[in-house]
Order: sequence, then structure tokens, then C-alpha cells
Amino acid sequence: MLNIGSKKSRWSSGWKKENTLSNEILKNIYGDQAIQYFNEDNPIPFVFSDSKSFDLIELEQLLQAVGWGRRPLRRVKRAIDNSLLKVGLWQHDTKFPRLIGFARCTGDGVIDATIWDVAINPVYQGTGLGKELMSYLMNRLKNLGIKRVTLFADADVITFYKRQGWILEPRGSKCAFWYSN
Ligand SMILES: CC(C)(COP(=O)(O)OP(=O)(O)OC[C@H]1O[C@@H](n2cnc3c(N)ncnc32)[C@H](O)[C@@H]1OP(=O)(O)O)[C@@H](O)C(=O)NCCC(=O)NCCS
Repeated sequence: MLNIGSKKSRWSSGWKKENTLSNEILKNIYGDQAIQYFNEDNPIPFVFSDSKSFDLIELEQLLQAVGWGRRPLRRVKRAIDNSLLKVGLWQHDTKFPRLIGFARCTGDGVIDATIWDVAINPVYQGTGLGKELMSYLMNRLKNLGIKRVTLFADADVITFYKRQGWILEPRGSKCAFWYSN
């Protein structure tokens, strides 16, 4: 488990100390690879994890909140079960952590992976969480030894990925590639 904080945070160390989750709580609620994150807008920690299970209805609500169509829950469950990696972002609450971000990857687990369903709840967009979600996801993929990561982005979010170092496919329309070297 790791603890990270926003570079932009204006908080005094006292505030942060008060709200930082112990490793035990982090692990018990969110799993082994959980990372907590603070940003300047919110005194409650956010937590990234790839091992906490999802409430499918909460996940679908999140994906619908960003404007994506409804999908049959049984198919969503199978897609998630078959995914190589699924990452959630929660706003911490000891009893009811709130899912506010999500991304998943499919792939062979060795060489290639493709990222899908990157979403941050609109209420929390624009505060750096999308970038942190991608960073957490990419680190998990690097730890697996994945050599090439792809994703398909709509034209209006290409800049979001470009700013993180993604390279557009030659025709520059819809596809981006990331290489580990
Ligand atoms: C795309 C999305 C995940 C970004 O999340 P976010 O938390 O709002 O993004 P961040 O606040 O971390 O932004 C990081 C940077 O990307 C920029 N950015 C964010 N969304 C952007 C967009 N749609 N277009 C261009 N730049 C964008 C921000 O300005 C910021 O720039 P900076 O580093 O220079 O400050 C979020 O807007 C979202 O869920 N959108 C709806 C679903 C979607 O389209 N997902 C992508 C599927 S391919």
C-alpha cells in the first residue's frame, strides 16, 4: 500500500494527518494495492484500488452519469470478470465508500493491454482525479510487465490522453498507443 498526496494540496500537515487512513484500514477496506490520495478540494481521502469488488449497480450509475448508455448487468459482470485489471476510485467512507471513478483493461496479461471505460463522476471532474486514475492504472500494468497499451478515445478527450504522453495513431483519428520503452 502506498500513500500519495497532491502536489497542489494547500493543506496543513495537521489536517492531512488527521484524515490519512492507517495502512490497516486501507488494506481491510480497499485491498493490498490500494493508494490513498488527497486533493485540495476535499478533506476526505480518495482511494484507488484494483482489488476491491464493485457493486454493479453503483458502477452502472457511474457510467451512466458520464453519459454512456445502459448495459445489461449480466453482460457487464461478465466483461468485468473477464477483464485483466479493473480499477476503482472511491471517496472514502468507513461504512459506505462511494465509487466515483473507474477504468478497466483487457489483455493477455503479458504483452498487450487495452484500456476501456475510463470515467470520473462529473461532480469530481477537473480536479486531477482522471489523471491520477490513469497513473495508477498504468503503474499496475507496468508491474505486470505489459509492453504496449492501447485505448480508443473520442475526439473530445484526445487532449486528456495526449497530455499524459499518449501518442495518436498515424491517421490521428481515434486510436493511441503507449510503449514501455
Ligand atoms: C476524461 C475524464 C476521465 C477526465 O477526468 P478528469 O478527472 O476530469 O481529468 P483531470 O482533472 O485529471 O484532468 C487532467 C488534465 O486533462 C485535461 N482534461 C480533462 N478532461 C479533458 C477533456 N475532455 N479534453 C481535454 N483535456 C481534458 C485537464 O484540463 C487537465 O489538464 P492539466 O493537466 O493541464 O491540468 C473525465 O472527464 C470523464 O470521465 N469524462 C467522461 C467519460 C469519458 O469520456 N471517458 C474517456 C473515454 S475514452
